[in-house]
Amino acid sequence: KRFWVVVPAAGSARRMGAAVPKQYLPLAGRTVIEWSLAPFLAHARTVAIVVVLAEQDQRWPQIAIAGDAKIATAIGGAERMDSVLAGLRALQDRAAPDDWVLVHDAARPCLSAGDLDRLLNELSNDDVGGLLAAPVVDTLKRADDGGRVLQTVPREKLWRALTPQMFRRDLLQRALQSAQAKGLAVTDEAQAIEALGLQPKLVAGDSDNVKITLPEDLPRAERILISRSA
Ligand code: CTP
Ligand code: MG
Repeated sequence: KRFWVVVPAAGSARRMGAAVPKQYLPLAGRTVIEWSLAPFLAHARTVAIVVVLAEQDQRWPQIAIAGDAKIATAIGGAERMDSVLAGLRALQDRAAPDDWVLVHDAARPCLSAGDLDRLLNELSNDDVGGLLAAPVVDTLKRADDGGRVLQTVPREKLWRALTPQMFRRDLLQRALQSAQAKGLAVTDEAQAIEALGLQPKLVAGDSDNVKITLPEDLPRAERILISRSA
């Protein structure tokens, strides 16, 4: 079954602290965003990809794949959820209400074709939808403001939410609009779906599907990408 893609790329990458927004930093011979889009451009069932850009973005037109017929752009907002909603609005007249939409961070350049296919296969007949996720491997501590441990949080049953996150267009749009109306600060799509009382399905994904957040994440992503092509 066909699917649509929304790629939020309108963040300011404050934690990276680079002169160039992180999605445009060089990585293993391309830019971060080109790697992030590649698995979707290569997939036969992708209908279209909406890349959501900051209003002041001037770098996107210089990206080699900017002119690809499958790619459209939209202008994002202050929070990630505002940007995703802008991307969904751009699909409103093209995608059916029950079409699948995959939301994938522009800052996740290491999604493998295998993980994308597993997500699609495991959820294609699901009532709710879901997301790639990786089990937490470290012991977790909750601390006070002084950095003193308050308690150990058992890691059993804890997962890290990755992207893509895959939901029906209409459900996702309603969930995000409802979160926005309630002033709920959601940091991923699943959280907005959960707020409707639904339970997104976790699909075990590779922990190599890293998000570029801090400078140290770049060499790690480069190693992952280079090891795959070898
Ligand atoms: N994003 C977006 N619109 C926003 C905020 C974030 O489209 N208003 C996008 C980012 O471009 C990124 C993804 O959402 O691809 C994940 O967000 P994050 O890693 O937090 O990126 P930034 O918000 O850019 O980084 P930071 O939080 O360090 O400023
Ligand atoms: Mg952010």
